[in-house]
Amino acid sequence: MSHSYSDGRTLNDSPNATFDQILETRLSRRGLLKGAAALAVAGSLPLAGCATAGLRREGNLGFKGISVSTADAVRVPEGYSANVLYAWGDPVGHPSASPAFKQDAGNSADEQALQAGMHHDGIHYFALPYGSENSANGLLVMNHEYSDDGLLHADGFANWNADKVRKAQNAHGCSVVEVREKGGKWEVVRPSPFARRVTARTPMRIAGPAAGSADMKTAADPAGMTVLGTFNNCAHGYTPWGTYLTCEENWNSYFTNSGTLTADHRRNGVSPKGRGYRWEEFDERFDAGKHPNESNRHGWVVEFDPYDPQSQPVKRTALGRFSHEGAWTAAANDGRLVVYMGDDRAFEYIYKFVSRDAWNRTDRNANRNILDHGTLYVAKFSDDASGEWIPLIHGRGALTKEAGFADQADVLIRTRAAGDAVGATKMDRPEWIAVHPATNEVYCTLTNNSGRGGKDRPGTDRANPRVNNVFGQIIRWRESGNDPAALNFQWDLFAIAGDPQHPDAGRRGNIKGDAYGSPDGLWFDDGGLLWIQTDVSASTISKNHYERLGNNQMLAADIRSGETRRFLTGPNGCEVTGVVMTPDARTMFINIQHPGEAPKGRNDPQNPKAHSSWPDGAAGGRPRSATVVIRKNDGGVIGT
Ligand code: FEO
Ligand code: CA
Ligand code: CA
Repeated sequence: MSHSYSDGRTLNDSPNATFDQILETRLSRRGLLKGAAALAVAGSLPLAGCATAGLRREGNLGFKGISVSTADAVRVPEGYSANVLYAWGDPVGHPSASPAFKQDAGNSADEQALQAGMHHDGIHYFALPYGSENSANGLLVMNHEYSDDGLLHADGFANWNADKVRKAQNAHGCSVVEVREKGGKWEVVRPSPFARRVTARTPMRIAGPAAGSADMKTAADPAGMTVLGTFNNCAHGYTPWGTYLTCEENWNSYFTNSGTLTADHRRNGVSPKGRGYRWEEFDERFDAGKHPNESNRHGWVVEFDPYDPQSQPVKRTALGRFSHEGAWTAAANDGRLVVYMGDDRAFEYIYKFVSRDAWNRTDRNANRNILDHGTLYVAKFSDDASGEWIPLIHGRGALTKEAGFADQADVLIRTRAAGDAVGATKMDRPEWIAVHPATNEVYCTLTNNSGRGGKDRPGTDRANPRVNNVFGQIIRWRESGNDPAALNFQWDLFAIAGDPQHPDAGRRGNIKGDAYGSPDGLWFDDGGLLWIQTDVSASTISKNHYERLGNNQMLAADIRSGETRRFLTGPNGCEVTGVVMTPDARTMFINIQHPGEAPKGRNDPQNPKAHSSWPDGAAGGRPRSATVVIRKNDGGVIGT
């Protein structure tokens, strides 16, 4: 097989071991190659035929790909169905009450705290009970990334008051909903003892090296150990012990500053006027001029236990502070936990955390503090296709007192500054990361970076090869010895996204199969199919007339051949983000975020259906983000 890369190399002439060679080594070591597959290896035949060894099942592109779309609808291939399960405002099923969604956005702040938040994003399915592989009853845990106050309140920002701020804060955070399947139909269980909302007001514990440090202390929390809420939760992760990781992304947007911007405020994009959420008008902690340390308490990964609705979420400071897209775990060869993380801002970095201790596979409670001890690394991608993980440890290399880093808490609070100091590689907006279930090869979407190569901005390198990069790329790497804890890796580009018909050759990309732009969501199913979700922004589409890619979508790629096939198209103005399947792979859950997003920011409350009326159509009052259930009509495995 030969797969082309941006620089004209093929997989066969790349200096590093090919994917298949690595797979062969790994699977041979694990004794997983048997029968025909082993014969293929012995005879040095191409390994593509046995690249499914070590997987639970064989994932093939068995569906008929669909066309691009500008329909205000979710479309899936022939033989599949897609149904809305849980939309913004639907009751979460809390034991205390299940207030119905009001199509005129008339729900109160208290009702919003018992309903789905806005802007569904990362999602995971936890089977019930814990430890089972139940594919007909489980907990869906998901993020609600942000609020569009033009849709959230009947009159938008007019008559702005404390209740509106509280409603907006309650529209953020996470949902835990119990779901069950009966005769092929899924429903939310209401009420359920597990049903829960986590919001921008939920008390949380701060743990890890930065807990209690001087920079974490505020007037409301002189100990620096507890904080209210999590917000702008983008993608997610989960641990092998059944907890959920929710990741704080564009937290800086919520802060204003009526005083003086600190160096850290500037490095993290805290600005005098913020991004117009207007929380500071009735919740003073969001004015960084009055409370300069409050912003230090956001930008973390938060862990909570969905199986225990009383459990308090915990901010894990050992995993660093930046615009966390998500937190994807892998098992090191010696049983420690590795967490891969992207910092989704132009020219920011890719990180990984390696725990100090191995986790306990039989006693989940013994893993309560695993994420508090370990080493955070930042990635350097070299042009010779090698890469290294640079540790961010106080006192080492450039991270000394003399260089301005007071201690390890300081290194973690100012993670970006630490990455700058050690010379990490500035990437084109790292979004989702997916670890191959059999080979440990890691894939990461770099969604776009129109600033690349601009005036006074960093130029291209081989990992980020295009100037004014509006369509993005997918990078992948192989850790030394296939050990996720390794300190060195080999990398290449899996695909460069674009429109093959584009008049500008630099925007055509090299996708084999159905084209897409701005890859964002990324996930391997346990058959090894790579699912890719897109987020071409409304402003990019309207400004540059990229209609040939249509509405945002989801595709599946067979990494053995590189072929990519379009599986789903979303409604107008949406991005498609969040994907998971039940353990039997016969149900897929995806999220549609911001249907009807206004190209210039928030929607007009006087005309909420200006850009989309999905999913409620004529009967609805406004577009709503929602979780969608996808099934094969014959009950078969999704994608095959
Ligand atoms: Fe919230 Fe980076 O997407
Ligand atoms: Ca994203
Ligand atoms: Ca995105």
